[in-house]
Amino acid sequence: MDTGATGGTGAAGQPSSRSRDLAEIHEGMSLAQKKLSPKYFYDEHGSQLFEAICELPEYYPTRTEIGIMRDFLPEMARYIGPEANVIEFGIGSGLKTKLLLDALERPVAFIPVDISGEHLLETVEALRSDFPDLQMLPVATDFTRPFPVPETHAESRRNLVYFPGSTIGNFEPEAAIDLLRVMYREAGEGGCLLIGADLQKDIEVLERAYNDSQGITARFNLNMLRRLNGEYGADFELDNFRHNAVYNPHDGRIEMHLVSEKDQQVSIGEHEYSLERNETICSEYSYKYTLPQFADMAAQAGFTVKKVWTDSKGWFSLQYCERR
Ligand code: AVI
Repeated sequence: MDTGATGGTGAAGQPSSRSRDLAEIHEGMSLAQKKLSPKYFYDEHGSQLFEAICELPEYYPTRTEIGIMRDFLPEMARYIGPEANVIEFGIGSGLKTKLLLDALERPVAFIPVDISGEHLLETVEALRSDFPDLQMLPVATDFTRPFPVPETHAESRRNLVYFPGSTIGNFEPEAAIDLLRVMYREAGEGGCLLIGADLQKDIEVLERAYNDSQGITARFNLNMLRRLNGEYGADFELDNFRHNAVYNPHDGRIEMHLVSEKDQQVSIGEHEYSLERNETICSEYSYKYTLPQFADMAAQAGFTVKKVWTDSKGWFSLQYCERR
């Protein structure tokens, strides 16, 4: 990691990713509603906390999505068809990958794409013994930008882009459509998409899921400040902030905030910021969709939603989309 206080320059005089991050952090902290990107949640400790969140009784998305998969995977596999390349955007704990690969008919290659090369290799290693004949081609890159899909040994019939977990909901609508456009491109001619999308529901259910009784989500949220202290030269006093998550019905999203407990100054790198008591830093949006809203976003990226699977309460969806 580049540890220069203000970030250096990378190859060919380009700003390094750390100096780009610092510029983005400064931009967010200079807004009237201060904002930090949810990407800062996911250092090693943050990823462990996220895995713990997925097990919480109040956090319904993971368990509900896995339930939908267990109920409908044979049908999903029929829609996708045989001999597909599976391009997974982001990589989670591996269980949802394994369930899908098990259900598909003779998948040709598994191509996981994630910015963390280390995490990718670990996941691929863990899957190798379950699928010894499947070609695995990990791609370590930022999947929000187009990337070349590696050549596979064998001919495939089509590409399937797989994006479970409703991480699409952590992007604001325009950015979510841009990301769907990248998926459209990577799916290629005749390709398809299987994507998890969390749905609108009772506010109490939503707010409980993001304000759990064990305080794990609070630790996950505050870990962002610890990470900024360690990696970006910030001086946040963690005890001076508390976690809060609220549903914003106007925009149809959960908003996670770090609430300042008092008037205070914080510095990040060379910049200083003032926070008033009860002022917040917004750390994440998590959009909850209606089915027509999601279909409209997919359409703007060139996809038609062909089939939607949900649980009995209609809380979560897995959506199969084809390129128009
Ligand atoms: C990764 N993402 C789909 C989670 C969500 O529900 O938006 C992140 C999360 N934030 C708080 N709890 C879980």
